[in-house]
Amino acid sequence: MATALENSPRTGGKRVILAEPRGFCAGVDRAIEIVERALEIHGAPVYVRKQIVHNEHVVRELEALGARFVDSETEVPDGAVCIFSAHGVSPRVRDNAARRHLTVIDATCPLVAKVHQEARRFARDERTLILVGHADHEEIEGTFGEAPDRTVIVQDADEARRLELPPGTSAAFLTQTTLSVDDTSEIVSILRERFPGLVGPGSEDICYASQNRQNAVKAIAKRSDLVLVVGSANSSNTIRMVEVARAAGTRARLLPDADRLDPAWLAEVETVGLSAGASAPEVLVEQVIERLDALGYTEIETETTASETVVFKLPSGLQRPGQDDAADAEDAACAALLARATARIEELLSAECSRWGAVDARAALPVEAVAELVAAGGKRLRPTFCISGYLAAGGDPDDPAGQDAVVAAAAGLELLHAFALIHDDVLDNSPTRRGVPTVHVKHTAIHAERGWVGEARRYGEGMAILAGDLAFGYANRLTAGLPGPAMEIWTDLTTEMIIGQQLDVALAAEPAPDPDLARWIAVCKSGRYTIHRPLALGASIAGRSDLQETFEAYGVAAGEAFQLRDDLLDAFGDSATTGKPAGLDVNEHRMNLLLALAATRDAQVGRLVADGLEGGGWDPTRLRAALLASGADQEIEERIDRLVASARTALATAPLTDGWRRRLGEMAARVAYRDH
Ligand code: IPE
Ligand code: IPE
Ligand code: MG
Ligand code: MG
Ligand code: MG
Repeated sequence: MATALENSPRTGGKRVILAEPRGFCAGVDRAIEIVERALEIHGAPVYVRKQIVHNEHVVRELEALGARFVDSETEVPDGAVCIFSAHGVSPRVRDNAARRHLTVIDATCPLVAKVHQEARRFARDERTLILVGHADHEEIEGTFGEAPDRTVIVQDADEARRLELPPGTSAAFLTQTTLSVDDTSEIVSILRERFPGLVGPGSEDICYASQNRQNAVKAIAKRSDLVLVVGSANSSNTIRMVEVARAAGTRARLLPDADRLDPAWLAEVETVGLSAGASAPEVLVEQVIERLDALGYTEIETETTASETVVFKLPSGLQRPGQDDAADAEDAACAALLARATARIEELLSAECSRWGAVDARAALPVEAVAELVAAGGKRLRPTFCISGYLAAGGDPDDPAGQDAVVAAAAGLELLHAFALIHDDVLDNSPTRRGVPTVHVKHTAIHAERGWVGEARRYGEGMAILAGDLAFGYANRLTAGLPGPAMEIWTDLTTEMIIGQQLDVALAAEPAPDPDLARWIAVCKSGRYTIHRPLALGASIAGRSDLQETFEAYGVAAGEAFQLRDDLLDAFGDSATTGKPAGLDVNEHRMNLLLALAATRDAQVGRLVADGLEGGGWDPTRLRAALLASGADQEIEERIDRLVASARTALATAPLTDGWRRRLGEMAARVAYRDH
């Protein structure tokens, strides 16, 4: 018998055409491996909520290893390990699990998790969510649970035609990841026609694996008398593959395993097309091939319509020893250097506090203000990019001189950032930062409470100016010993950030929408300042100059995405999560990139901005409402998707290891899709 991988020449006999790609997708692979690893690490039993993937053979095999499948998290004993299946769960399930103190391991496919994130975003924007999918499927139960009060489920074209929404509803649609591409595009066009202004996901929700398997089935169906799709009857993507073959005019059947192949189906069948759903193990396909071989279908041909390279990482803590050693080593090296940079800052600030506190308690106030801001948290993006640039450029994590230099640069960057933020909050009139009162607000309040002489606000802002100046001084002190080329990058970085801030202030005074200029500012104060230059600085310390172009293209794209997210979080985010106020940019007449783009694309936003220019300031409440109604957030989300894609493209052919290409790609997505 020929194996599945060999192609026998066609001789006119009975034959099998195998579809490629078929079978396991990256999400299924990952989910199964998660259960196996959880069993190895925690020991049996581990509980799995619902079938880990919709395949009875997979479930039986994992059961034999000690997994216990339950229908609900409420059946899992208190404190036990509970794995959520690949299809995802609603927030209610997570809450139940937390109440029972379960050790949760989440095997939700990352592509389903993306749909959940979109559902949360649309709900936050107060849109009605039209969820296209099958109401009784676990994936839809989970996504629906993100916003049950504002979600309606549409299962087919008829329901799309019959759906009624109150006039003026602002709606969005999302889809199950395993639907038929053709049926869904019909449903979505009906919805779009019926509800103008309907917005959708930033990128297609139907996953790459469903799309590829459907295309491959279409291709083999054309040349087959019967198509068999191996998979279980509760597997949505598998059933869609059967339907796709039938829609192409070919008889098709779902086949759970070889034993259930009925020879009667093969009457007058010369060519059998064979594929497998995303949850069906390849061994089942091999058994079907053997069975067909015994029935006279001895020739095998593979028809390949796409090649797949997607691999999803296991959750942290579950990687097999040795499997991701390189990534673990890089994580450890980054974390160690970042910890040293933080320690360097703390050392410096505490020495300065003692030094000036000895002169007079008041002399230490601005130093304490800087220390409090650093201690309040923050994402430490600039030090992280700087250290990543160093390691990605091959900087030796064990070379003491290189290490010292990169630690100093990383510490300097975070102190420079403290300077930028303290002053930015004065410029932007912002009351909170990193979840605590800003320096000028805190000291204004102290002045007012104590009833001191003079204007409280001038005192508070004076304190902030001086605290910022000190932080800038410390940053320069830390980086003073950097080698010449690194120093040049440092100088560019500090100057660009300040000039970017200046133009931001200038545009607030004359807020005419100019997307090109707004973009230039965003690139300066975020793209270069936050990503490009820190990476370049790290690479330069590692002695590499050949990565500059890559880091510029990557950093400018990812940095623009970072600033657009910042603008979106300002306009529509939650201050409890961001630690800074919501709606501040509009209130303070900040002509940020989001607003500049919205004003040039949407007539109502444009009019309100223009009226504001004539009338000495726009109406923030109306402008915010118009921004929401304009769907600008949707357009910006799509722009962010494109920017992340171009950041990844910049890495594609760069002289970097595959590991760093992947890590930097993930970092671009993290800064672009952050929630704080
Ligand atoms: C905020 O920077 C200022 C911008 C450039 C938008 P971050 O978002 O990195 O703030 P922290 O450091 O995490 O607080
Ligand atoms: C500030 O931009 C950029 C710098 C600090 C260089 P924003 O004003 O948008 O930053 P946030 O939103 O206050 O953090
Ligand atoms: Mg600000
Ligand atoms: Mg600002
Ligand atoms: Mg901002």
